Amino acid sequence: MTQNLRIPGPTPLPDEVLDAQSSPMTDHRGAEFAEILRGISSGIGGLIGASGDVLLLTGSGSGAMEAAVVNTLSPGDRVLVISIGAFGDRFAGIAEAFGANVERLDIAWGEAADPAALTAHLATNPPYAAVLLTHNETSTGVTNPLRELAAAIRSGPGDPLVVVDGISGLGAMPFEMDAWGVDLVVSASQKAWMGSPGIGIAVIGEHAWAAIERARMPRFYWDFRQARSFAAKGQTPWTPAVSVLFGLKVGLERLLSEGPERTWARHEAIARGAQVGMEAAGLRLVAPAGHRSPTVTAAWLPDGLEWAPFNAAMRSRGLVIAGGQAKWTGKILRFGHMGHVEWPDIGDALRVLAETLREFGHPPDPVATEAAGREAFESALVAR
Ligand SMILES: Cc1ncc(COP(=O)(O)O)c(C=O)c1O
Repeated sequence: MTQNLRIPGPTPLPDEVLDAQSSPMTDHRGAEFAEILRGISSGIGGLIGASGDVLLLTGSGSGAMEAAVVNTLSPGDRVLVISIGAFGDRFAGIAEAFGANVERLDIAWGEAADPAALTAHLATNPPYAAVLLTHNETSTGVTNPLRELAAAIRSGPGDPLVVVDGISGLGAMPFEMDAWGVDLVVSASQKAWMGSPGIGIAVIGEHAWAAIERARMPRFYWDFRQARSFAAKGQTPWTPAVSVLFGLKVGLERLLSEGPERTWARHEAIARGAQVGMEAAGLRLVAPAGHRSPTVTAAWLPDGLEWAPFNAAMRSRGLVIAGGQAKWTGKILRFGHMGHVEWPDIGDALRVLAETLREFGHPPDPVATEAAGREAFESALVAR
């Protein structure tokens, strides 16, 4: 049975990415590989409106988050973490682990942060060295109004760094690093970039470089100064995940040839179809309208439906989705739709979801569910 992998990363990969990943090894300090690294960095920078340095780190997204923290902060620095879910909590945990003086602005899970509330918070507190926040919260399927939140930070007291976890949104949705005033953003190869897991991405602007020079948290493997000086030679300080980079190059070329506007429209329309289809299946979405993620859709499990057997039944039909994380384990389900995704993948997933719900006594009509989703997808595409 073929598997329909609909978790929010790693994502299914196009055949040409898989082929590229099986290319023979090359000298990671040779001219040919330098071209590959430079091509990936400039491609990513162009897609996210960034004039700063795009560093490719071997590690997962959490490694890139840790790198962002240890490179920009000193123990005792006052840091505000705006958390809207499990990954915001992770950012706070990392900063605390390295001795930052973390204050939290905790938003109820399932909601987005409110720029006006942030403005009020900043105005009534001493200035922070940095504000850490999540663009797209994968644990709840909520997208923050990042442009407005960054503007609130920029116009507030002091001159805090704006440090963004863009891991599950970058590449799939609008993001303008320079124009929005973001100083540092991280992502990871296995999300919308159509790569395998293994490469963390850190994009760093001028304001962040000044902080990096002053920062005193311990760093060695993740040292951005090292990474930047090697990147200037088309290299990384340490042996990189060569095969992952071969694939990432091809994934990125696909995004570049599709063009960002079309990529964003495709994700938006697919997300719309997933949302409407899940509602047609009788599920209640977690995220409020206006803050629904284009890359992951979360819905509440119906009362009395136990996640473990339900999930096992979906998997026996070839559909692999994600459940809830941390305090929402067993409470929600999550559909990933980022990267190499087209409507039939989601239509099929909705049908299997509805069939399995029916088997468990929550009877939607699988055909109507899929049709409602497809209609919403098609009209969202036409509307753009
Ligand atoms: C928003 C967000 N932040 C951080 C991470 C952590 O990335 P990784 O699992 O690659 O360490 C993820 C992964 O799902 C994520 O979606």
